[in-house]
Amino acid sequence: MFPAHRPRRLRTTAALRRLVSETTVRPRQLVLPMFVKEGASAPVEIKSMPGVLQHTRDSLRKAAVEAVRAGVGGLMLFGVPAERDAVGSGATDPDGILNVALEDLRAELGDDTVLMSDCCLDEFTDHGHCGVLTPTGQVDNDATLEVYGEMAVAQARAGAHVVGPSGMMDGQIGFIRSALDEAGFADTGILAYSAKYASALYGPFRDAVESQLQGDRKTYQQDPANGREALREVELDLAEGADMVMVKPALPYLDVLAEVARLSTVPVAAYQISGEYAMVEAAAANGWIDRRRTVLETLTSIRRAGADIVLTYWAAEAAGWLDRE
Ligand code: PBG
Repeated sequence: MFPAHRPRRLRTTAALRRLVSETTVRPRQLVLPMFVKEGASAPVEIKSMPGVLQHTRDSLRKAAVEAVRAGVGGLMLFGVPAERDAVGSGATDPDGILNVALEDLRAELGDDTVLMSDCCLDEFTDHGHCGVLTPTGQVDNDATLEVYGEMAVAQARAGAHVVGPSGMMDGQIGFIRSALDEAGFADTGILAYSAKYASALYGPFRDAVESQLQGDRKTYQQDPANGREALREVELDLAEGADMVMVKPALPYLDVLAEVARLSTVPVAAYQISGEYAMVEAAAANGWIDRRRTVLETLTSIRRAGADIVLTYWAAEAAGWLDRE
């Protein structure tokens, strides 16, 4: 009798396949990143991210309510300022777009969802880097930490439940933790973008936030060739007090995600980024792949690799396709 082992047996019927399915994706595990544009009078389509908008404060509020109704677990907010300067003043200004939009959403949604905010300067600087620069144009790690601390406190004050430092400065988690604690925000959490790679796939996001960046972020984001370094970054962030850690991008880095999930003692997130979104949307628009099946397959794969939480631009739509329980 050959073959004695027939793995296909468990694939015979839909009921059997359902019974032995290992990985689930639930709306509550998905976080929707959203963009809000200062001074916009109508929502603006982002060309390289079909279906994703730069919101007005008003349209943001409505879209956020809909996403929460669809069951998403959280929202991650990014601001697109009307004006930028060398130190990213709009980021720490309580009247800056990100802070006022956080206030809007917290007032609208209360504690019904987890409100998160990007804690990084690149959207707010006129040079587009994630930190402030030295006189010779290098990104100044320690000077940037001071601004991140202030930014995190402004976001907490505006209503963020969780801040998301995405700038890859050394010591950012510890510094932000102390700043929050000293300002009386001991309950505000930190989602650390611990292993963030210098990826070509951020391109569409830079359209979305109208990034002014010339050049690249290779002096602070990680080299895509390196896996071990990600584990060191995660260990440091855990030691500095991260409440959650993240790997980004997601799909090309599932090996890193799996390692991080094994090592981490806190929940692990993965960010399915703008370029991952754009690739699928473009192929689907051409009729080359089945959009819905592809989206669900990528989300399932990211969960299977070990992510507890997935940040994805499909969060609200996918939530509508998925079982809640
Ligand atoms: C930095 C930041 C970036 C993204 C999230 N936070 C861009 C970058 O590092 O250049 C990218 C997200 C995406 O591509 O969807 N504030």
